[in-house]
Amino acid sequence: MRAEDTPTIRLEDYRPSDWLIDTVDLDVVLAPTSTRVRALLQLRPNPEGRPGAPLVLDGDEIAPVSVALDDRPLDASAYTVSPRALTLPAPPDRPFSLRIETELDPQANTKLMGLYRSSGVYCTQCEADGFRRITYFLDRPDVMSVYTVRLEAEKADAPVLLANGNLVAAGELPGGERHFAVWHDPHPKPAYLFALVGGRLDHVRQPYVTADGRKVELAVYVEPGKADRAGWALDSLVRCMRWDERVFGRNYDLDVFNVVAVSDFNMGAMENKGLNIFNDKYVLADPHTASDGDYASIEAIIAHEYFHNWTGNRITCRDWFQLCLKEGLTVFRDQEFSADERSRPVKRIADVRTLRATQFSEDAGPLAHPVRPRAYTEINNFYTPTVYEKGAEIIRMLKTLIGDEAFARGMDLYFARCDGTAATIEQFLACFAEASGQDLSAFALWYEQAGTPTVTARGRYDAQARRYTLDFTQSTPPTPGQSEKRPLVIAVALGLVGRDGDLPLGGAVPALARDGIFVLDAAEASLSFEGIAEAPTPSLLRGFSAPVRLELDLDDAALLRLFTADSDSFNRWQALQTVATRALVRAGRGEASDAAASAGAIAGALAGFLDGPASDDPAFAAQVLRLPTPADIAREIGAHVDPDRVHAAHRALATAIASALAPSLATLHEALRADGAYSPAAGPAGRRALRNEALGLLALASPEDATARATAQFEAADNLTDRLAALATMTLIPGEAREAMIARFAALYAEEPLVMDKWLLAQALIPEAGTLERVRGLMARPGFSLTNPNRVRALIGGFAANLTQFNRTDGAGYRFVADMAIALDRTNPQVASRLLSSFKSWRMLEPTRQAAARAALSTVAATPGLSRDVADIAARSLA
Ligand code: BES
Ligand code: ZN
Repeated sequence: MRAEDTPTIRLEDYRPSDWLIDTVDLDVVLAPTSTRVRALLQLRPNPEGRPGAPLVLDGDEIAPVSVALDDRPLDASAYTVSPRALTLPAPPDRPFSLRIETELDPQANTKLMGLYRSSGVYCTQCEADGFRRITYFLDRPDVMSVYTVRLEAEKADAPVLLANGNLVAAGELPGGERHFAVWHDPHPKPAYLFALVGGRLDHVRQPYVTADGRKVELAVYVEPGKADRAGWALDSLVRCMRWDERVFGRNYDLDVFNVVAVSDFNMGAMENKGLNIFNDKYVLADPHTASDGDYASIEAIIAHEYFHNWTGNRITCRDWFQLCLKEGLTVFRDQEFSADERSRPVKRIADVRTLRATQFSEDAGPLAHPVRPRAYTEINNFYTPTVYEKGAEIIRMLKTLIGDEAFARGMDLYFARCDGTAATIEQFLACFAEASGQDLSAFALWYEQAGTPTVTARGRYDAQARRYTLDFTQSTPPTPGQSEKRPLVIAVALGLVGRDGDLPLGGAVPALARDGIFVLDAAEASLSFEGIAEAPTPSLLRGFSAPVRLELDLDDAALLRLFTADSDSFNRWQALQTVATRALVRAGRGEASDAAASAGAIAGALAGFLDGPASDDPAFAAQVLRLPTPADIAREIGAHVDPDRVHAAHRALATAIASALAPSLATLHEALRADGAYSPAAGPAGRRALRNEALGLLALASPEDATARATAQFEAADNLTDRLAALATMTLIPGEAREAMIARFAALYAEEPLVMDKWLLAQALIPEAGTLERVRGLMARPGFSLTNPNRVRALIGGFAANLTQFNRTDGAGYRFVADMAIALDRTNPQVASRLLSSFKSWRMLEPTRQAAARAALSTVAATPGLSRDVADIAARSLA
């Protein structure tokens, strides 16, 4: 299909399906290049649909081998087939069955959508619209069916046969070479949640009894020989199941829960009912092949996909415009789980860093869109930070606004009322409006309006009246297709910090919505507190209570007071980040600035911190030591950005701070040496994080000392985290020692593709002119492959995230990434379009780079035969 013929799908055009499919019986005979699929669909007219409407079943790159209606072959005149549909113009006006046979080539399926093979394992990925690549179907989430799936294969080829639901039959076929398994899923589900797996796999398992007494067999399936790396995923699964019972009152609802890891996967993982399929990167872990960060991601993603069982599967989406209904809510749930399992403040800081880096930058560029978009041409391009992360922030804010109890009642109401249905954002919000007695119609604008609001706050103290007043404004910049913006309902969690800590917030005018929560719902508003005995320092947006940019009129001295005295740990962290950001923005713009003074102030604050409170919470201290990144600063500058200048400013400030702190950093690096065997638990991981942060800073202050430390650490390490930190440190120090470590790393981990991905990424991020050549060289290595999404994301995606080298003034970085996107588009459009999204911030650059980026994007847009995925991103990026 040519891009110009691509239809735009609009929310306002939604209408219920004219037909429903009550049951699906699939009979799948697996073979590498010709898998036969027989589907038996029981159809009936939808009472909500148009009577007498034609039946249009979706298809994608498939052809019917045969079609039968009520068991009689269908005359060729009774239906038409196009590349994307099988149509019965005049179907019977009553329930009937259709039997459709298709033949698939899983081996040739490089898009990794539908049924494909990954390292010899048959697997499926159907969200959002991959089921139509398996058989003709009403491939939309509001058509929910009960599935029974019979799988057949050669025993040697696929000893393990899995599908959704419970196993109801299995056995050998005559001859003894072939076998079968029948799976039945009693829960009606949309086609996007269908899954099957067949292959040679090892597994670990564990029995589990739900809080309401159901016996469940949990299992994690992995490549043969890797079962000893599956334990952490299984352990995480047990913990998140208990958590969902305790915190959300949600029990699991089948007799088995299977997780399968595959090595070729477009995304992170997928919540297929009872059969979650994962990118192996988010399952496999042992101390030698997974970092602390990997352990945390595995825990979070196992939880995320498991939590979908209630938020996504039992209650699914009416249409794809409601994607945030399941994704935003489920991200919120997995964030809360991780916060409870680990450190809540540290998790919040990490999530806000991600939000700002990914979502704020998306919201500020040509790909900005509302959390609930109104139109799309390719839904796969809307699995975005906006739908996910901003979607989660809105729910967090809703909880802040109505309070924990009303939020819990609203969730219960939602589960009770919408269970078994395909729901909308309106239905979701109605539950909270009812539970809280509040009118949420103004709040709902968060789902419709794109862009990151800026909130400004100015404080004034009237000593005589003992009154402190805060004057707020809010405004949201225009985004594509939305030039006019309206004020939003913004939750501002706040406190007033005095000499001896938080002052009591008595006599607020207008009254606070809840304890410490001011609701800013107009373009301008003022808030006064009476009986304030001293001039306070305001602490605003505590815990990052709303996804906004905050501009406040505090000077560095006041911010540094907050850094030491704020009772809100998020704002302690934020205060120092703000001081550094301001200095870096000035320097990054090339404005005259007293960088030395800023560095001195920050270093002074950090010195006191490292000598005192840092040791109480090393994970938090690591976050404090980590300055805003050059990309953060570029985003803050927002226009006419020169990445080289930003990078240089960042280097200079970081080096000055590190130099001032060098002795303490060295002491930290020694004192925090591991004192026992490796454990991925949050405590020891936090100590490693702080120690390695110190090492990274030392690389700037004293490269020779850092080289010695990093080299020794690399050799002595009993875990991947410390090795990777040593490698990352050396990427900042050009020279032979670095190249030697790079070679040593490759020798140690040559047989571990997931570890080698980190090696590729570390090199792709080197902020030096030779990096593009290095990346090209790495592509030519035997371990690299353009057909494996993890390899591509590590090396080419990594390069596209390299601020100075992707944005080279000569445009070579852009051309490289554009060429890669074009090349990848021929085999895997989803991976290609995600890579092309790396251009999302091109309009904030200075003119020379803008021109070069535009030229590269235009080359992509002008390429004949582009996928819808890439054509859409190219067109919107250029619009
Ligand atoms: N439902 C998605 C997987 C998905 C994404 C399928 C896009 C089809 C298209 C899954 O629940 C998910 O959100 N996965 C995330 C990880 C998660 C922890 C945010 C992913 O794959 O990145
Ligand atoms: Zn999800």
